[in-house]
Amino acid sequence: MRIKDCHNFHDFRRLAKRRLPGPIFNYIDGGADDEVTLAENSRAFDRCGLLPSVLRGVSEVDMSVTVMGQKLDMPVYCSPTALQRLFHHRGERAVAAAAEKYGTMFGVSSLGTVSLEEMREKHENPQLYQFYFHKDRGLNKAMMQRAKDAGVEVMMLTVDSITGGNRERDLRTGFSIPFRLTLQGMIQFAIKPMWGINYVTHERFRLPQLEEHVDMSGGASSIGGYFTEMLDPAMTWDDVAAMVRDWDGEFCLKGIMTVEDACRAAEIGCSGIVLSNHGGRQLDGSRTPFDQLDEIVQAVGDRIDVMMDSGIQRGTHVLKALSLGAKAVGIGRGYLYALAAGGQPAVERALGLMRAEIERDMKLMGVTRIDQLGRHNLRIHGDCGVTSPSQWTAA
Ligand code: FNR
Ligand code: LAC
Repeated sequence: MRIKDCHNFHDFRRLAKRRLPGPIFNYIDGGADDEVTLAENSRAFDRCGLLPSVLRGVSEVDMSVTVMGQKLDMPVYCSPTALQRLFHHRGERAVAAAAEKYGTMFGVSSLGTVSLEEMREKHENPQLYQFYFHKDRGLNKAMMQRAKDAGVEVMMLTVDSITGGNRERDLRTGFSIPFRLTLQGMIQFAIKPMWGINYVTHERFRLPQLEEHVDMSGGASSIGGYFTEMLDPAMTWDDVAAMVRDWDGEFCLKGIMTVEDACRAAEIGCSGIVLSNHGGRQLDGSRTPFDQLDEIVQAVGDRIDVMMDSGIQRGTHVLKALSLGAKAVGIGRGYLYALAAGGQPAVERALGLMRAEIERDMKLMGVTRIDQLGRHNLRIHGDCGVTSPSQWTAA
C-alpha cells in the first residue's frame, strides 16, 4: 500500500499502523476509558442527513472562510497536536508546509517538537499557538510573550485537559516521554526497525516550547504526568480572563461543550471557542461536539466564532458542521495518520482529498459559497433515538 492508494481517512490510518511502532500508533489512535466518545464523535454526523438543492449553477465554488480574523482558503484547519516528530521525523515542518499549500491554518502545540518561532518564520499561513495553563504563572506569561514576539496570530488555550485522560492503551504499552516501555511495547518497536533508523538518524527529539521551563528528561514524565504535575487544576475563569486581557488579540478556548461556558467565554472577551472533546481522549462518555453545535451557535454565534473538532473524517462532516453555523472545523487524526504514513506529501494528499470532497459535496448540495449553507440543509433522522432540539425540527 502506497500514499497514492490512500483515498480516505481509513486508508491513511491503515498505512500509519503499518509504519509506526505499536505504542506510537496507539497513542495517536486511542482514546480514554472504553473509547465510547472516540467512536461516537464520527457517528454523530450520521444521525442527520443533508438536503441538497439542485440546478443552482455551481461551476465555480468558493470554500474560503474567515475565522478569528484569519482568511482560510478551505474551512478545515490542522488542530494542534503533541509530539509530531515521533510520528514522522519532519513532524510539524511537514504539517505546516502542507497546510500552507492549501492556504489553511495550523496549530503548534506547547508539546510540539519544532519551535513556534521557526514555524512562524518559515510559513505565510496563519498559525495558532496552543497552550495549557501551568501552575507556574510566570511560565504562562513567558509562553504568551514568546508567541506574541514570534507574531503568532491566534492564541488557543485548551481547557478540557485540566487533568490527563485515562488512556489505557498507553498504560499497556508504556508510552511516555522518555519511553518507559513494557516488554510488549519494546517488542513492538523492535519489529518496526525503519522507524527507529529514521528516529536516530535525524535531529534529536526536543520539546522546544517547554524545554527552558520543564525537565522532561528525568522521571517518568509521561503525558499524563505532565498534565498532573505541571498543569494547574485550580484554573478558573478569572485566570483565563486575565490571560485574554494580556494577549489582547485573537484568543480562543478549545474544549468548550456547554452553552453556559460558551457564554462565559464571550463575556471574558474571547474571540472564538472550539467545541471539542479532544478527539475522545479526555472525558469518555462526553457528548459529541457536533451534537452540541446547534444549541451553542444559537446562543453565542452572533458574538463569537464557533469552531468544532473531534471525529471529522469526511467533506460531508465538514458541510454538516458548517450548516449548523461552525465557522471552520479542526482535524487531528485526519492529518496525523497521513503524517505517519508518508510525511509532507501524504499530509498534502489528505488535505487535497478533503478539499476535493468539500468542493464536490458543495456542488452536489447546490451551493457555491459557504455562507449559503444553513440549518435548512439538515434534518435529524427520526429513528435515531436522539431528541432533536425543538427549533431543529422547525427549521
Ligand atoms: C491531540 N490533541 C491535542 N490538543 C491540544 O490542545 N494539544 C495537544 O498537544 C494535543 N495533542 C494531541 C495529540 C494527538 C496524538 C491527538 C490525536 C490529539 C487534540 C487535537 O487537537 C484535536 O482536538 C483532536 O485530535 C480532534 O479530534 P480528531 O480529529 O482526532 O477526531
Ligand atoms: C493528547 C494531549 C497531549 O491528547 O493533548 O495526547
